Amino acid sequence: MTEKLHKKPLTADGHNRSFGRVASRMSPAEQTALDARLAPYAVDVGGGRKIDLKALFPVQDGPLLVELGMGKGEQICVRAQANAGHRFIGCEVYRNGLEKVLRVIEAAGLSNLRLCPHDGRALLDSLPDASVDNLLVLYPDPWPKKKHHKRRIVQADLLDAAARVLKPDGTLLLVTDIVDYALWMISTVYGHGVFFPTAISPAEWAVQPEGWHPTGYEKKALREGRKPFYLHFKRRAVQENQAHNLKTPAC
Ligand SMILES: C[S@@+](CC[C@H](N)C(=O)[O-])C[C@H]1O[C@@H](n2cnc3c(N)ncnc32)[C@H](O)[C@@H]1O
Repeated sequence: MTEKLHKKPLTADGHNRSFGRVASRMSPAEQTALDARLAPYAVDVGGGRKIDLKALFPVQDGPLLVELGMGKGEQICVRAQANAGHRFIGCEVYRNGLEKVLRVIEAAGLSNLRLCPHDGRALLDSLPDASVDNLLVLYPDPWPKKKHHKRRIVQADLLDAAARVLKPDGTLLLVTDIVDYALWMISTVYGHGVFFPTAISPAEWAVQPEGWHPTGYEKKALREGRKPFYLHFKRRAVQENQAHNLKTPAC
């Protein structure tokens, strides 16, 4: 069942399938139990409605960080624990990853971290305009074969959605250990024009951000001798977009 799904190139809502398995060794009963545990923290998407962020976070009103494809959530959980007044939404379709993050939320009693078990692109479509301060995509599936490049989550349509939901001056952080994907990210973001790089040289791309908490994929990459690229971008302010006329930034 999972294998067949894995091979389908499109998701139900018509996106290129950017992910592999959605669960490993989980019985239907375990999945039902997981849904029940997720319910109090779950972010619902779709139906053309925008998420009511005040209802989702009745207590906190600090900056909102969204992470797409958070895996086991190593990065977002530590940030949420360290910043009680900030708001966090972690998105992941892989149910075993969601279960790991739920364990942290339940053990720490975290009230500022919500989980979206749906496609990250559907999450972005459901967020209000200019509502997000920081958007993270860490170690997205690299889809190394050329015929699979269309499955990479970093595409112009993702950047369109990111540009809409990010506040002016909001930040976008893309991280990968795959050189070819780093070049793809750089050319896709530069070509899009709404974001400008705040790190512009290989030396800057190699610097681990302050207070960083390596994810499972980062630890594996380092063990295997691959180096991370930390690609930082900022959303241009609206007037800047008009002046810039959506051309490729020079850097
Ligand atoms: C290579 S893993 C990296 C996980 C984590 N970011 C890390 O650094 O350890 C990529 C993750 O992105 C998830 N993913 C891929 N496409 C997604 C999408 N469209 N929406 C939500 N999650 C997605 C996959 O399920 C997978 O868990």
